[in-house]
Amino acid sequence: MTEFQAPKGVPDYLPPESARFVAVRDGLLQSARLAGYGYVELPVFEDTSLFARGVGESTDVVSKEMYTFADRGERSVTLRPEGTAGVMRAVIEHGVDRGALPAKLCYSGPFFRYERPQAGRYRQLQQVGVEAIGVDDPALDAEVIAVADGGFRSLGLDGFRLEITSLGDDSCRPQYRELLQEFLFGLDLDEDTRRRAEINPLRVLDDKRPHVREMTADAPLMLDHLSEVAKAHFDTVLAHLDALGVPYVINPRMVRGLDYYTKTTFEFVHDGLGAQSGIGGGGRYDGLMRQLGGRDLSGIGFGLGVDRTLLALQAEGRTVGHTSAVDVFAVPLGDEAKLELAKLAAALRGAGVRTDLAYGDRSMKSAMKAADRSGAAIALVAGDRDVEAGTVGVKDLGTGEQVDVAADAVVSHVLARMGRVRLL
Ligand code: HAM
Repeated sequence: MTEFQAPKGVPDYLPPESARFVAVRDGLLQSARLAGYGYVELPVFEDTSLFARGVGESTDVVSKEMYTFADRGERSVTLRPEGTAGVMRAVIEHGVDRGALPAKLCYSGPFFRYERPQAGRYRQLQQVGVEAIGVDDPALDAEVIAVADGGFRSLGLDGFRLEITSLGDDSCRPQYRELLQEFLFGLDLDEDTRRRAEINPLRVLDDKRPHVREMTADAPLMLDHLSEVAKAHFDTVLAHLDALGVPYVINPRMVRGLDYYTKTTFEFVHDGLGAQSGIGGGGRYDGLMRQLGGRDLSGIGFGLGVDRTLLALQAEGRTVGHTSAVDVFAVPLGDEAKLELAKLAAALRGAGVRTDLAYGDRSMKSAMKAADRSGAAIALVAGDRDVEAGTVGVKDLGTGEQVDVAADAVVSHVLARMGRVRLL
């Protein structure tokens, strides 16, 4: 074992895997950009109380999983466990909500949760997220969901399903909560589950143990007790999803790990991932901004797991992004040739062609091996004598064919070839 290892539960992404990581992240972000979401880059750590108040003291995320510490100024800070609270803080602080509404923002980056590491569950996880703030319109809920769905599909992913429900609003949730508690207190629950029923009864509905599932099979469901307003909102979201061709299944027992959700709530689930099957999730959070000291504005958003999307693509046998690091690999034999090919490599890079060069004094055989290993489609081969003659060998690494090309025509020759490759 080496002296230092990455912290437990934290993945390193190295080439070639990292190219896929970037492609997933950028693909998901692109879907958001196409719908008018502007990128925000926010702090990775914030005041601890922002998350305690925003995400909810009773959630596992806040009570068990936060990376919290005192900085050198004795302020309690926390590595962000999720993105929504920080976005709300920034929106309030900078008065973004005084501009055009909805404010549509997107972000990507690392989040931190001290969870027990396992396949697909990391302590540093990566998300792409969006938040649309300030307009309570079910069509916007549908847009947010469609952006996530479209992002996954743009990567070629298709073995997932969207689960959706409504968690109601202030006008119906408190009554429903009482009703559910009444039902749960009538059951023969163990001590822990009973306590959970007191603090957050909805979570008991998400209990995976068969005997609890059986006992709660007839529990009242929020969906059957929505206020008229919340029901109309939910029906319109579904109508919009139908119109947009976004498939979904209604899961009235869905429970999310964060407290701020109201009305529309959803999760993207992939069956190829085992226990950690959630590749993304989100929902509406109509009371959050006020709770954090801002105006009483609504909001909706999602967080998509980049790490898990990558695993889901692997499970489906799909790759995204460049499978090779370079397009062209230059193999110089001799010092003059190295000088000439280094110049050509720079010119190719300037023309947007990914180009590498064999460094060190390598034999022809070992340099060609490096060229093959690089995944490049084309090798440039030249010895000092070729330089004198003003030519460079251009070798197709797929077919093995090689032609001599005048040094000053190499860039356009390579571009033309790549154009041909692209046309195929
Ligand atoms: P979340 O469901 O807690 O929501 O996380 C979103 C996604 O992040 C999950 O579906 C999962 O793919 C990924 N994820 C979460 N924890 C881990 C982990 N330990 N390891 C790997 N991946 C993980 C939120 O964070 C909300 N802020 C989403 C949101 C935005 N809701 C409204 N706006």
